[in-house]
Amino acid sequence: MESPFRADILRGQVAFVTGGGSGIGFEISRQFGKHGASVAIMGRRRHVLDAAVSALQSEGIQAIGLAGDVRKREDASRVLEEAFKHFGKLDILVNGAAGNFLASPEDLSPNAFRTVLDIDSVGTYTMSHEALNYLKKGGQGKGLSTGGLILNISATLHYTASWYQIHVSAAKAAVDSITRSLALEWGTDYDIRVNGIAPGPIQDTPGMRKLVPAEMQSDVSRDDRLLHKLGKTWDIAMAALYLASDAGKFVNGTTMIVDGGHWLSQPRYIAKEDVKNLSRVVEKKSRKSPVGIPSSKL
Ligand code: COA
Repeated sequence: MESPFRADILRGQVAFVTGGGSGIGFEISRQFGKHGASVAIMGRRRHVLDAAVSALQSEGIQAIGLAGDVRKREDASRVLEEAFKHFGKLDILVNGAAGNFLASPEDLSPNAFRTVLDIDSVGTYTMSHEALNYLKKGGQGKGLSTGGLILNISATLHYTASWYQIHVSAAKAAVDSITRSLALEWGTDYDIRVNGIAPGPIQDTPGMRKLVPAEMQSDVSRDDRLLHKLGKTWDIAMAALYLASDAGKFVNGTTMIVDGGHWLSQPRYIAKEDVKNLSRVVEKKSRKSPVGIPSSKL
């Protein structure tokens, strides 16, 4: 799909995207690149990174792939330094790396719970912490703010509660909290904006393949998919572009939900026609005989 944004809105910017080798992270990298940014993508698997970098370069995007694990502080500091050395600066950090699988609490060991928090929450914090010195200087010369931007990819699972996702819900709740705290502290002290994006179900992503696996497609998930359109990685990348561009320069500390309203969804328990035809009838009746007051007293 064509982007509605001008092709130069991120001209001269350097973005670093964890989990940039696939899914949402890849599309954010691609769209940032198509709008003028150079991108460094980070992931654990070399062959995934190499394929992603070739795809980006084939579209004329300046891209490098750096192998590392966001759970390891030494990896974080090494790859950020490599990206800085390669491109000469760093303006945007996208924390997209995440871990997920379905498991009920009975079958989720404390170590499995911790593993996801380590990737999503501690990983987001570690990368942000290690990137601070670069981001402080990153945006200099833009004329709008002196600091860079951190963009945390979150979820909507924890707004209510989600089956088989206790680990990810806890992890993303922490990510949202990190977003707000860093927005307060680094927004005030360094003019660094820190925002999040909470995607709904997005088609063709590793997350969807794990959360709605073909092997487990129940009637419930089929109904759910019929009721709600799946988003595209493009939708998330457009939100990221808005937040990264000058159009989003006054947005700080927010997590933007990009899910087509999915998290608000509830089963429709009364048909619309019934409401149209019977709501006033019910109202009239209830005025004549209010519930709870004996009719002898009316
Ligand atoms: N159900 C229950 N527990 C599971 C599990 C599952 N499907 N998959 C892994 N675990 C448990 C392991 O048993 C282990 O716990 P234990 O030591 O008590 O046995 C713990 O989780 C860590 O697993 P391990 O395979 O050692 O971790 P890893 O670092 O190799 O992989 C994951 C991390 C499990 C999060 C893996 O799914 C991953 O690498 N994910 C990244 C990609 C991804 O999920 N993308 C989607 C983003 S939305």
